[in-house]
Amino acid sequence: MSRTATGQSPASGGVVRPRRYLMCRPTHFTVNYSINPWMDPVVPTSTETGLAQWKQLHDLLVELGHDVELMPPDPGLPDMVFAANGAVVVDGKALVARFRHAQRTGESAAYAQWFRAHGWTEIQQATRINEGEGDFLLAGELLLAGSGFRSETAAWAEAAEFLGRPVLGLTLVDPCFYHLDTALAVLDDEQIMYYPGAFSSQSREALAERFPEAVLASEQDARVFGLNAVSDGRHVVLAQAARRLAGQLRERGFEPIGVDLSELLKAGGGVKCCLLELRPAELSPPARGADG
Ligand code: ARG
Repeated sequence: MSRTATGQSPASGGVVRPRRYLMCRPTHFTVNYSINPWMDPVVPTSTETGLAQWKQLHDLLVELGHDVELMPPDPGLPDMVFAANGAVVVDGKALVARFRHAQRTGESAAYAQWFRAHGWTEIQQATRINEGEGDFLLAGELLLAGSGFRSETAAWAEAAEFLGRPVLGLTLVDPCFYHLDTALAVLDDEQIMYYPGAFSSQSREALAERFPEAVLASEQDARVFGLNAVSDGRHVVLAQAARRLAGQLRERGFEPIGVDLSELLKAGGGVKCCLLELRPAELSPPARGADG
């Protein structure tokens, strides 16, 4: 059966919106340094398995009707598969990441170059440490911004100003959930799912106030990266191990689709980490170039 990303979402009544994503094939995937608690260079990794799992995710998104563009991988940057970290792109404006760790700083120039080469004209290099959609997630008009381990709080104002969106700043407190997208996912313009234990008490209060109907994930589902997910308004692509969370989503009228990215989890990444959403300006979308 082929699935298409059109129609009404039973959860929100909103239209399911086909997305445009940038991905980077894990041709050089390995774990040879550690910058988060999931990464242990002693544990063997298989580039071949990583590639096969990534391809399943890629093909699923295409099957769902999304447009996927590709970023060329770099042999010296094994974490480049996690394209979410490359930038935040809203209304045709690309705010290019500035990475916290030296092992990933080389990725910024590659993303800036990709945007220039593909017809995007409003490109800004972040001056504050800003790990792209790892820490900045758009929920309707609101930009949810994380800090605590990677992006600096000073990056919140920089993003708000350049992207012209209000920001809700959120503080992460558990090193296993070092990026916002490991603990929270946007389901549609109104709805999110998250794991409260990953946030400071003040941030938990802010989330409960702004999203009283949110889906709350168990610690078990959060620890298999069930929240590192993407939604088109109906289909929610998430780690297949997050079974209870899949049931909670079904109860809300969403259609969860489980995928296995266990190899990439050895680097602390999952579904959402592999995807950078490209949101063109409403009136004049940048021309599409050839895929890398
Ligand atoms: N090993 C990468 C890092 O620590 C994983 C990045 C995951 N990306 C994400 N969007 N959460 O930076």
